[in-house]
Amino acid sequence: MSEHNISVTVNGTHHELTVEPRTLLVSALREQLGYTGANVGCETGRCGTCTVRVDGETIKSCTRFAVQSDGAEIETVEGLADDGDLSTLQEQFQENHGLQCGYCTPGMLMSADTFLRENEDPSREEIRDAIEGNLCRCTGYQNIVDAIEATADQLGEQR
Ligand code: FES
Ligand code: FES
Repeated sequence: MSEHNISVTVNGTHHELTVEPRTLLVSALREQLGYTGANVGCETGRCGTCTVRVDGETIKSCTRFAVQSDGAEIETVEGLADDGDLSTLQEQFQENHGLQCGYCTPGMLMSADTFLRENEDPSREEIRDAIEGNLCRCTGYQNIVDAIEATADQLGEQR
Protein backbone atom coordinates (compact mmCIF):
# COMPACT_ATOMS: atom_id res chain seq x y z
CA MET A 1 0.00 0.00 0.00
CA SER A 2 1.29 3.49 -0.83
CA GLU A 3 2.40 5.70 2.03
CA HIS A 4 2.38 9.46 2.45
CA ASN A 5 4.73 11.76 4.28
CA ILE A 6 2.83 14.44 6.14
CA SER A 7 3.62 17.07 8.74
CA VAL A 8 1.40 18.33 11.53
CA THR A 9 1.83 20.59 14.51
CA VAL A 10 0.38 19.15 17.70
CA ASN A 11 0.07 21.39 20.75
CA GLY A 12 2.79 23.59 19.27
CA THR A 13 5.24 20.78 18.44
CA HIS A 14 6.06 20.04 14.80
CA HIS A 15 5.93 16.40 13.71
CA GLU A 16 6.69 14.63 10.44
CA LEU A 17 5.27 11.18 9.93
CA THR A 18 4.50 8.58 7.31
CA VAL A 19 0.95 7.30 7.09
CA GLU A 20 -1.05 4.95 4.94
CA PRO A 21 -3.98 6.48 3.07
CA ARG A 22 -6.37 4.61 5.38
CA THR A 23 -4.75 5.76 8.64
CA LEU A 24 -7.26 7.66 10.75
CA LEU A 25 -6.13 10.89 12.40
CA VAL A 26 -6.93 9.47 15.85
CA SER A 27 -4.72 6.45 15.14
CA ALA A 28 -1.84 8.62 13.93
CA LEU A 29 -2.12 10.80 17.02
CA ARG A 30 -2.27 7.90 19.44
CA GLU A 31 -0.13 5.22 17.88
CA GLN A 32 2.48 7.17 15.94
CA LEU A 33 2.81 10.41 17.89
CA GLY A 34 1.90 9.24 21.41
CA TYR A 35 -0.97 11.68 22.04
CA THR A 36 -3.19 9.10 23.74
CA GLY A 37 -5.58 11.66 25.22
CA ALA A 38 -7.96 11.32 22.29
CA ASN A 39 -9.71 8.02 22.98
CA VAL A 40 -11.19 5.62 20.48
CA GLY A 41 -14.79 4.70 21.17
CA CYS A 42 -17.25 4.07 18.39
CA GLU A 43 -15.03 4.90 15.38
CA THR A 44 -18.19 6.00 13.61
CA GLY A 45 -18.37 9.66 14.57
CA ARG A 46 -21.04 9.23 17.22
CA CYS A 47 -19.46 9.21 20.66
CA GLY A 48 -17.06 12.18 20.51
CA THR A 49 -14.39 10.69 22.72
CA CYS A 50 -11.82 11.24 19.96
CA THR A 51 -12.55 14.98 19.71
CA VAL A 52 -9.55 17.23 18.98
CA ARG A 53 -9.20 20.70 17.53
CA VAL A 54 -7.85 21.06 13.98
CA ASP A 55 -7.08 24.56 12.76
CA GLY A 56 -9.29 25.94 15.53
CA GLU A 57 -12.33 23.74 14.97
CA THR A 58 -13.33 20.67 16.94
CA ILE A 59 -13.54 17.53 14.88
CA LYS A 60 -14.00 13.87 15.67
CA SER A 61 -10.62 12.52 14.75
CA CYS A 62 -11.99 9.08 13.85
CA THR A 63 -13.84 10.69 10.95
CA ARG A 64 -10.76 12.10 9.26
CA PHE A 65 -7.83 10.45 7.58
CA ALA A 66 -4.43 11.57 8.76
CA VAL A 67 -3.45 12.60 5.21
CA GLN A 68 -6.30 15.10 5.24
CA SER A 69 -4.60 16.91 8.11
CA ASP A 70 -1.29 17.44 6.36
CA GLY A 71 -0.01 20.86 7.42
CA ALA A 72 -2.67 21.30 10.12
CA GLU A 73 -2.38 22.80 13.58
CA ILE A 74 -3.85 20.22 15.94
CA GLU A 75 -4.70 20.65 19.61
CA THR A 76 -5.37 17.69 21.87
CA VAL A 77 -6.39 17.43 25.50
CA GLU A 78 -2.71 17.20 26.45
CA GLY A 79 -2.37 20.82 25.34
CA LEU A 80 -4.98 22.21 27.75
CA ALA A 81 -2.74 22.19 30.80
CA ASP A 82 -0.02 24.80 30.93
CA ASP A 83 3.27 23.19 31.94
CA GLY A 84 1.48 20.84 34.33
CA ASP A 85 -0.98 23.43 35.66
CA LEU A 86 -4.54 22.39 34.89
CA SER A 87 -6.69 24.81 32.94
CA THR A 88 -9.69 26.38 34.67
CA LEU A 89 -11.95 24.00 32.78
CA GLN A 90 -9.96 20.96 33.91
CA GLU A 91 -9.98 22.21 37.50
CA GLN A 92 -13.74 22.68 37.39
CA PHE A 93 -14.26 19.17 36.02
CA GLN A 94 -12.27 17.95 39.01
CA GLU A 95 -14.08 20.24 41.45
CA ASN A 96 -17.57 19.38 40.18
CA HIS A 97 -16.96 15.65 39.76
CA GLY A 98 -17.41 16.05 36.01
CA LEU A 99 -15.97 12.63 35.35
CA GLN A 100 -16.48 9.10 36.53
CA CYS A 101 -14.57 6.55 34.43
CA GLY A 102 -13.04 9.42 32.47
CA TYR A 103 -13.30 7.83 29.04
CA CYS A 104 -15.40 10.60 27.53
CA THR A 105 -13.52 13.33 29.37
CA PRO A 106 -10.85 14.28 26.78
CA GLY A 107 -13.51 14.80 24.15
CA MET A 108 -15.81 16.63 26.56
CA LEU A 109 -12.98 18.95 27.54
CA MET A 110 -12.06 19.75 23.96
CA SER A 111 -15.66 20.44 22.95
CA ALA A 112 -16.27 22.56 26.06
CA ASP A 113 -13.01 24.45 25.70
CA THR A 114 -13.81 25.40 22.11
CA PHE A 115 -17.38 26.32 23.04
CA LEU A 116 -16.27 28.60 25.90
CA ARG A 117 -13.88 30.43 23.60
CA GLU A 118 -16.87 31.61 21.61
CA ASN A 119 -19.49 31.82 24.37
CA GLU A 120 -18.43 33.73 27.44
CA ASP A 121 -21.76 33.58 29.30
CA PRO A 122 -23.67 30.52 28.12
CA SER A 123 -26.96 29.25 29.46
CA ARG A 124 -27.21 25.64 30.65
CA GLU A 125 -29.25 24.90 27.55
CA GLU A 126 -26.48 26.24 25.31
CA ILE A 127 -23.94 24.15 27.22
CA ARG A 128 -26.04 21.03 26.71
CA ASP A 129 -26.29 21.79 22.99
CA ALA A 130 -22.52 22.30 22.81
CA ILE A 131 -21.77 18.83 24.15
CA GLU A 132 -24.54 16.98 22.36
CA GLY A 133 -21.97 15.25 20.16
CA ASN A 134 -20.13 13.87 23.17
CA LEU A 135 -21.62 10.83 24.86
CA CYS A 136 -20.94 9.91 28.47
CA ARG A 137 -21.68 6.28 29.12
CA CYS A 138 -21.46 6.94 32.85
CA THR A 139 -24.26 9.47 32.26
CA GLY A 140 -22.67 12.15 34.41
CA TYR A 141 -24.11 14.95 32.34
CA GLN A 142 -25.38 17.14 35.19
CA ASN A 143 -21.94 17.42 36.73
CA ILE A 144 -20.34 18.01 33.36
CA VAL A 145 -22.73 20.88 32.66
CA ASP A 146 -22.07 22.18 36.20
CA ALA A 147 -18.33 22.12 35.51
CA ILE A 148 -18.64 24.01 32.24
CA GLU A 149 -21.00 26.56 33.79
CA ALA A 150 -18.63 27.08 36.73
CA THR A 151 -15.75 27.58 34.28
CA ALA A 152 -17.68 30.27 32.41
CA ASP A 153 -18.45 31.99 35.74
CA GLN A 154 -14.84 31.83 36.90
CA LEU A 155 -13.44 33.08 33.60
CA GLY A 156 -16.05 35.86 33.64
CA GLU A 157 -14.88 36.99 37.07
CA GLN A 158 -11.30 37.08 35.84
CA ARG A 159 -12.11 39.29 32.85
S1 FES B 1 -14.40 7.32 18.38
FE1 FES B 1 -14.67 9.08 17.19
S2 FES B 1 -16.72 9.71 17.53
FE2 FES B 1 -16.51 7.85 18.63
S1 FES C 1 -17.17 9.58 32.68
FE1 FES C 1 -17.38 7.54 31.96
S2 FES C 1 -18.02 7.79 29.91
FE2 FES C 1 -18.13 9.77 30.74
